[in-house]
Amino acid sequence: MNDDAQTVFLNGEFLPLEQARVPVLDRGFIFGDGIYEVVPVYARKPFRWRQHLKRLGGSLQAIGITNPRDEAGWTELVHELIARHPWQDQFVYIQVTRGVARRDHAFPKDVQPTVFAMSSQFVPVADALRATGVRAISLPDERWLHCDIKSISLLGNVLARQAAVEAQAFECVMFRDGYLTEGSASNIWVVRGNTVFCPPRDRLILEGIRVGLVEELCATAGITLDIRRITREEVQAADELLLTSATREVLSITSLDGKPVGDGRPGPVYEKLYAAYQQAKAG
Ligand code: PDD
Repeated sequence: MNDDAQTVFLNGEFLPLEQARVPVLDRGFIFGDGIYEVVPVYARKPFRWRQHLKRLGGSLQAIGITNPRDEAGWTELVHELIARHPWQDQFVYIQVTRGVARRDHAFPKDVQPTVFAMSSQFVPVADALRATGVRAISLPDERWLHCDIKSISLLGNVLARQAAVEAQAFECVMFRDGYLTEGSASNIWVVRGNTVFCPPRDRLILEGIRVGLVEELCATAGITLDIRRITREEVQAADELLLTSATREVLSITSLDGKPVGDGRPGPVYEKLYAAYQQAKAG
């Protein structure tokens, strides 16, 4: 199935992707005034769905948009979308904006949020890349101070990711005031021995759904987890560096700014967590 044959959901109806249109005065287009979710689907079941739904509700609440659907409504929408596509494993992308209104920064009254959802085939990270791990660069985190909201205003993330691409790297690891925050589209984990370190879940990072999951996986795999601020020096001295996201699952970063991380190969903690992740998917 090519992208043109995709069915999407827009404001109450399912329709072909090429027919889906949003008015130019949609506040998502004008102001980036909206939020989104990316949900992995395995064997046609949304993975960690409850957690994604909760974060979706939290993002909406944080920016003052009334949730346009209840839990059952979102669940029905997502299942219907999954059923309309041939793939067992998919990504569902949900986007809600404040809606369409005459241009004015302040919230308009009486507008319906725009609700959009689409699904595409889940394309796993290539085995060759898993085997070598990926390259990353580092940059100062120049985003706003509400990175905990899964906002569609992603310019800071977009510029960071582009810088990585231009440096032939896979991800950009960001630092604010000398401390690790996260990747342009992922959470970052530092490994030292058998301990995994993760920055605090504050406003400076998006709490990935995989953050809670890795916490659980560490507990079952006998890996110590330490949540605290992490300095640039600690990142540079890491035995392993990992990234997590809905699209990349758990992935090893084996080079940072052109220098090998640890021995430059995916390490034992990565191997354990990746195996545990695959088990969690199957269960
Ligand atoms: N991004 N931090 C940022 C800035 C992200 O954009 C993402 C995910 C994460 C990880 O969150 P999760 O585990 O819930 O995927 C952390 C998605 C995949 C995206 O924007 O495409």
